[in-house]
Amino acid sequence: MTKVAIVTGGTRGIGEAVSVMLKELGFTVAANYAGNEERAQAFTDRTGIQTFRWNVGDHEACLDGCNEVAEKLGPIDIVINNAGITRDGILSKMSFDDWNEVMRINLGGCFNMAKATFAGMRERGWGRIVNIGSVNGQAGQYGQVNYAAAKSGIHGFTKALAQEGAKYGVTVNAIAPGYVDTDMVSAVPAPVLEKIVGKIPVGRLGQAPEIARGVAFLCSEEAAFITGSTLSINGGQHMY
Ligand code: CAA
Repeated sequence: MTKVAIVTGGTRGIGEAVSVMLKELGFTVAANYAGNEERAQAFTDRTGIQTFRWNVGDHEACLDGCNEVAEKLGPIDIVINNAGITRDGILSKMSFDDWNEVMRINLGGCFNMAKATFAGMRERGWGRIVNIGSVNGQAGQYGQVNYAAAKSGIHGFTKALAQEGAKYGVTVNAIAPGYVDTDMVSAVPAPVLEKIVGKIPVGRLGQAPEIARGVAFLCSEEAAFITGSTLSINGGQHMY
């Protein structure tokens, strides 16, 4: 039986590239999305990948959503925690809601998805969890105390959960992408983005498939001895 993978935020940006690459590699893919019906429909029309709508920041919705995927496609072997949002602003302008939403979705989403799937992976003796962190979780970023804290939290979460899965064939790793050409990065004001790109040694934004390739590798059989690690894919912006 083919292995079943859920990609959260899997219909756009990095998530879309991951969904497509995992499908091409023979996995059965469920692409989760939060709300953009139009983009999700267009994604399915283009790729033939089934989509499932729920908010990863909602604990119960994650449990229900993962149950639905398991009923339709089979037990979940792989989770890619990719869904994330930004609410950028300097601290003095950042509201508690801006802080909370980013923590709830970006970091809470990883917890919620793991709660829904990790026990099954351990019981079946095989699993892969790949959490999408960020260079800004490693290095910090002006105007992103919420996002940097959540992404940094993802790196700690990864190392802790990896220890719980190791004996049971379940690996837990993170990817720390740099600035990738997606809707999220396009939202950064052009002059600010120009300055950031100017500091990337490779001299350009990343492309989503360049991140997806790393995710696919961490999901492979050959990556069974890699757990609790973070793979930086950032054009040399931050060498950790
Ligand atoms: N370091 C030091 N000072 C900085 C700075 C920096 N990196 N960036 C801006 N400043 C300074 C500015 O020069 C300015 O100073 P003056 O008032 O003396 O001129 C002051 O801070 C205010 O800057 P802005 O005019 O930009 O302030 P703003 O309130 O309009 O906007 C902001 C603030 C929303 C944070 C904006 O600067 C911004 O969008 N920054 C980019 C944040 C970013 O990189 N987000 C990444 C999103 S993509 C992502 O997160 C994906 C991923 O994982 C990589």
